[in-house]
Amino acid sequence: MGQIYFEAGSQQFHIQGENSSYIMHILPSGELGHLYYGKRIEHQADFSQQFAPYNYGMSRDIFPLDDSAALDFVALEYPTYGTSDFRQPAIEVRQCNGSRIVKFVYESHQIEKNKQPIEAMPSAFGTDETVITLTIYLTDAVTKLRLALSYSLFMTGDVITRHAKIENNGVESVQLLRFLSMNIDFDTKAYDMMTFTGSWIRERELEVAPLRRGIQSISSSRGASSATANPFFVLKGHHTTDFHGEAYGFNLMYSGNHVGQVEVTPYDQARVQQGVNYFDFNWELAPNTSFQSPEVAIVYTADGLNDLTQTYHDFYREHMINQYWVKKERPILINNWEATYFDFDETKLLELAKKAKAVGVELFVLDDGWFGHRDSDNSSLGDWYYDPKKLPYGLKHLVDQITDLGLQFGLWIEPEMVSPDSDLYRSHPDWIICVSDRTPTQGRNQYVLDFTNNEVVDTVYEMIAKVIRESGDISYIKWDWNRPLTEIGSLQLPPQKQQEVAHRYVLGLYRFYNHLMNDFPHLLVEGCASGGSRFDGGILAYSPQIWASDDSDAVERLKIQYGTSFCYPLSTIGAHVSASPNHQVHRTTSLKMRGDVAFFGIFGYELDLTMLSEGELTEIAAQITMYKSYRQLIITGDFSRILSPYDSNETAWSVVDKSKTKAIVGYYRTLAPAYKLPTRIKIPQLQPEMIYTLKGTKRTYRGDELMNWGIELNLVLFEELGILGQMSGDHVSLILAFDCITR
Ligand code: GLA
Repeated sequence: MGQIYFEAGSQQFHIQGENSSYIMHILPSGELGHLYYGKRIEHQADFSQQFAPYNYGMSRDIFPLDDSAALDFVALEYPTYGTSDFRQPAIEVRQCNGSRIVKFVYESHQIEKNKQPIEAMPSAFGTDETVITLTIYLTDAVTKLRLALSYSLFMTGDVITRHAKIENNGVESVQLLRFLSMNIDFDTKAYDMMTFTGSWIRERELEVAPLRRGIQSISSSRGASSATANPFFVLKGHHTTDFHGEAYGFNLMYSGNHVGQVEVTPYDQARVQQGVNYFDFNWELAPNTSFQSPEVAIVYTADGLNDLTQTYHDFYREHMINQYWVKKERPILINNWEATYFDFDETKLLELAKKAKAVGVELFVLDDGWFGHRDSDNSSLGDWYYDPKKLPYGLKHLVDQITDLGLQFGLWIEPEMVSPDSDLYRSHPDWIICVSDRTPTQGRNQYVLDFTNNEVVDTVYEMIAKVIRESGDISYIKWDWNRPLTEIGSLQLPPQKQQEVAHRYVLGLYRFYNHLMNDFPHLLVEGCASGGSRFDGGILAYSPQIWASDDSDAVERLKIQYGTSFCYPLSTIGAHVSASPNHQVHRTTSLKMRGDVAFFGIFGYELDLTMLSEGELTEIAAQITMYKSYRQLIITGDFSRILSPYDSNETAWSVVDKSKTKAIVGYYRTLAPAYKLPTRIKIPQLQPEMIYTLKGTKRTYRGDELMNWGIELNLVLFEELGILGQMSGDHVSLILAFDCITR
């Protein structure tokens, strides 16, 4: 059970989880210093002997801090720039007189059960039993700015969420030039930084590099959390693996421009920061107003990267994702995008739906192209009424026909966008993100709507809500976003607020989502942004699942799903079986491999079922039956990575249920090796003394045998499983299912 201590004598705070300790102190100068974050330490009233303020007598960098040390050498909690710390600050403020100097000094603190939500932004939730929050108030005597730093300790895996709030209690406005969510100063650079960057159809590629002196950072300035850099990174010990060693995770739960950075000084301290990107950010903080940062979720583990992953997965499932959906089995869907693109009519859709129903699909999703006169991507966004050419009897008629088949109905929307060729744009050309004296850039032939303007948000919302209400039974929405923001500006905001636009845009996005969830609390919304360009904790608060990538190739997906899995649970990862040859990379893979990859996510199909043979449809029906029997496990179980697609041509991962009675393992080999002995994989997370049977064989194993010795993927096994013929050549896969027979 976690606790938060404050020791008045030593002026120290100790956030103590079951496995971790986070220790801070009030410095003699009144500023807040950092002492320790790592493996749990028994609480003591005074850790002062750990703090040695260095005075480098021979150095030219002497800046006395209460006769002891320059701040540059001190570990700090929320540093400012301008006195004696020369590292990156967490906050930068410009006053009316031009001064950028602030000094925040401890005023008071409170420790309370549970936590407050963050205004206008999604944030983690808990109960009196599952969360404790420490809030430390600091003030700047000159500007009368008051800073509140919040630390919430979740009992689930000792996750600490942090965010900051600033109030202007002065009489003049100040400009907030930077306001990060967190800062931690480590006293060593002996870590590797793991990042998850990429692009469209190449999302969340893992890169690992040792920290070095200077600043290493990931960021987005695209108006969304982006595929460029997921707002998640890890610092791990050089020898940490999936199964052993220390690691720290940092995950900003925010959907807009962000930055995550580590600055290593010449003294080899490492300053870690994350928050809203300070590039092109300037918030005018008027007297008697406040500003809150989004929340960051921080995880420490001593037990390897799979443990870090499982902690994030549990945290998301218990404290961020809508609890209505979290354990609900998500419907297996067919999406018509890669089946028809824009070229469909009611007859074609119904043919597809009938085939889908026959193989066991549960939800039919009508993707882009159903509205306005949208036959390509160059028109109609913003005109959210059905296209009478494609749907002559109306959308409701189609919905009724599909639901009469026994399928649920889902619809694609892209509410944040407008096409120049649309009634909405023609009547409100000033409703787009732009600057007044330049031609706005089009992306995918469209503009971004000015979601800083509540009138725009509410008008578009009403159009979408009307479609949902009038169409009867729409139970699912795919929410897309298909271009980044450029010429970031708003015609309704004054010049001094133009650098608030990127953040205000995200607040507008959340406003829309809040309306939608309030009015349709049981609507399943799948997030999407040109595939996985906005896969973040902010969106997950509303959309329990997100389409992970427009790259639906099974081989490419291994890396994409592998990277995504580090932070986000399988219950959030939309994964579909698509056509072969694949439309993005033109690779040919078997239906089995495509199914086996998509299986470890929220499963669906995105291909023209009417073009498939009876044999293929039978295989799909079997895949669906199999997925249905494992989807509860996929949604709620403990996921582990076993073999990395970055290390070789083999990937493997597993999911084990919390009671350790069921396990499934996915194994994939991309290119066939020559003359190589069989691969052996060890299956983690089982109960050592339990006996497990391997489905499809007569084999039984003890848990400790599978965990420590593993199972060899050899010809005898393939023969027993009846898949010998399928296991040679390129792009092969295998799913092993274990059931416990003793408890
Ligand atoms: C984006 C999405 C796709 C599809 C298209 C439709 O690219 O990621 O899944 O919906 O838009 O235009």
